[in-house]
Amino acid sequence: MFFHQEKLTTEQFLRDYWQRKPLLLRQAFPGFEAELDADDIAGLACDELAESRLVTGRFPSPDWTLRHGPFGEEDFAALPERDWTLLVQDVEKHYPPLQALLGAFSFLPRWRIDDLMVSVAGPGGSVGPHVDQYDVFLLQAAGRRRWEIATQHDPQLLPGCALNVLLRFEAEQSWELGPGDMLYLPPGVAHHGIALETEGDKESQPAAPPLCMTWSVGMRAPSAADLLLALGEWLAEAPAEGGRFSDPGLMVPKHSGEIEAAAVRGLRELALATIQDSEQFGIFIGAFLSRYRLAHEPAPPSRPIDETRLLGQLQRGARLQHNPWTRLSWLALPDGARLFAAGSSFRCTADLATLICDNEALRDAPAERLQTDLGLLCELINRGHLLVETL
Ligand code: SIN
Ligand code: CO
Repeated sequence: MFFHQEKLTTEQFLRDYWQRKPLLLRQAFPGFEAELDADDIAGLACDELAESRLVTGRFPSPDWTLRHGPFGEEDFAALPERDWTLLVQDVEKHYPPLQALLGAFSFLPRWRIDDLMVSVAGPGGSVGPHVDQYDVFLLQAAGRRRWEIATQHDPQLLPGCALNVLLRFEAEQSWELGPGDMLYLPPGVAHHGIALETEGDKESQPAAPPLCMTWSVGMRAPSAADLLLALGEWLAEAPAEGGRFSDPGLMVPKHSGEIEAAAVRGLRELALATIQDSEQFGIFIGAFLSRYRLAHEPAPPSRPIDETRLLGQLQRGARLQHNPWTRLSWLALPDGARLFAAGSSFRCTADLATLICDNEALRDAPAERLQTDLGLLCELINRGHLLVETL
């Protein structure tokens, strides 16, 4: 079963919808109750480490405003009654218990998942009709929102607008979503989500009905430009720099100002050779994906740990867990596995890499399981990738 949908399996979702067409999932999270409310999100938006935006506007009016955080209480006090949206990125990293929600998306490779973005909106609030380059799962966390979508759209953007709002938008389909409902959108589908007014339960919430809150689980899809830029940087730091152009047997050119076809071919082959070594390319990809779109480098601990102290702590019941600001993944290579953490790579066995990359299994691993690999664990802790939780 796929997200409590009686007639859909995960395999069918991946075959028929993933990257292909939108899908509305009613009660994907039955009885959903958000662990964070609008005040928590506003609090996060005041933190200078959080990436936040405040948008006001109402389609089709061209008057949109976009401001970047950190915000202060006075910014929220000055908000109009309606037509505003506050958005905060990486909420599952600021509030790690929400990583459990991302666990519901483990039918996708973890490297594809970007973050949990939360939006809170007053009545009428929207970021305008737009198109994203990434797949997204839009979970309605509180209040109600109408989603309008169009698979065919005029790509022209509203000129001079700081946001990528479409100039024209005609909905092909629309739905009203309540808490627990979720809409999946593949890249390239135009969408417009408008926060609806909610009545509120007069008895339990006499003051204010819940604001519309949408939780977006967004995917990462590196562009060729991202990939090649990073490959260039990686090669520049590598000892062999990926080789260099050479042209033994050069003939006198007909026109010395011309770059001849043979030179273009030779340079293209040089570029291609750097990605043809699948082992080297794999190592680059692992390092690249473990750092791509990471908002911060993980901070190392104030006091480094050594193997003896770590062993003592583990034996007294300490637990290891991922720093939410790192990304851990691994790759199988002919000479063993490589573990990647926020752009760095480490040699280890596939068994150990599997354990380290699974946060829950790592947290539950007994001291006897970990004590044979204290060297690597210390290094990961001292570089900020793993955290030690002492009792
Ligand atoms: C929102 O939550 O208001 C916007 C999310 C999106 O359109 O991707
Ligand atoms: Co969007």
